[in-house]
Amino acid sequence: MSISLPNQPNYEIFHYKETAKQFFIVWHKPFCMETGREKMQSFMDVIKKRRSIRHYTDQEVPQDLLNQVLEAVQWSPSWANTQCWEIVVVNNRETKQEIKETISKGNPAAKAIVDAPIVLAICGKINASGYYKGEVTTKFGDWLLYDLGIATQSICLAAHALGLGTVVVGLFDHDRVKEILQVPEGVEVVSLIPLGFPGKGSGAPKRREISEFTHYNRF
Ligand SMILES: Cc1cc2nc3c(=O)[nH]c(=O)nc-3n(C[C@H](O)[C@H](O)[C@H](O)COP(=O)(O)O)c2cc1C
Repeated sequence: MSISLPNQPNYEIFHYKETAKQFFIVWHKPFCMETGREKMQSFMDVIKKRRSIRHYTDQEVPQDLLNQVLEAVQWSPSWANTQCWEIVVVNNRETKQEIKETISKGNPAAKAIVDAPIVLAICGKINASGYYKGEVTTKFGDWLLYDLGIATQSICLAAHALGLGTVVVGLFDHDRVKEILQVPEGVEVVSLIPLGFPGKGSGAPKRREISEFTHYNRF
């Protein structure tokens, strides 16, 4: 039972014991409210302060931090809980060098592939997400890119919250990376995410105003 005391908005009777006729008065209301606001503030900070990191220190990523990043993938939503993601963790220097050679010319993230101590190859099973009994269910066909996109955001936000940097890399020779990583048929490599402690960062690219992309009731 919880009752507010008159003229005492900061106090609530937290618990009333019928038998002992005892009230436990706990000063908890502002604490709860503040915690909620603080939580939202730090949540928005993680979202807004995450940047694409293209320079890394050579400090290794501890296994427990990597595990937390992978846990963020595990708990991501997906089409009918399909969880079509497969992640290859690349920490071998030669393999990273081979992958770097598949990056399209002029891609500003090319060096990050070898500089970062880890590259996550984000792969997905095809013909699973968006399908029901083997049949495509919507005009968009395979929803793998959608589900992997969500998992990717989970990775980038979790990494940032842990003090790590990431950059999503989509412009490379996907088939060549599939060969290098010996990814089986039925699974495609979609993106690469260097992961490590951030070196030099860069400013936030300009965002569209909320009013420019939000439509109420009709487009
Ligand atoms: C699907 C996707 C593919 C991307 N591919 C590349 C890439 O190949 N090379 C690169 O340098 N950045 C790439 N980026 C990073 C974007 O350029 C970056 O997210 C955008 O400019 C906004 O900057 P911010 O991440 O710092 O907010 C990619 C981002 C996404 C979401």
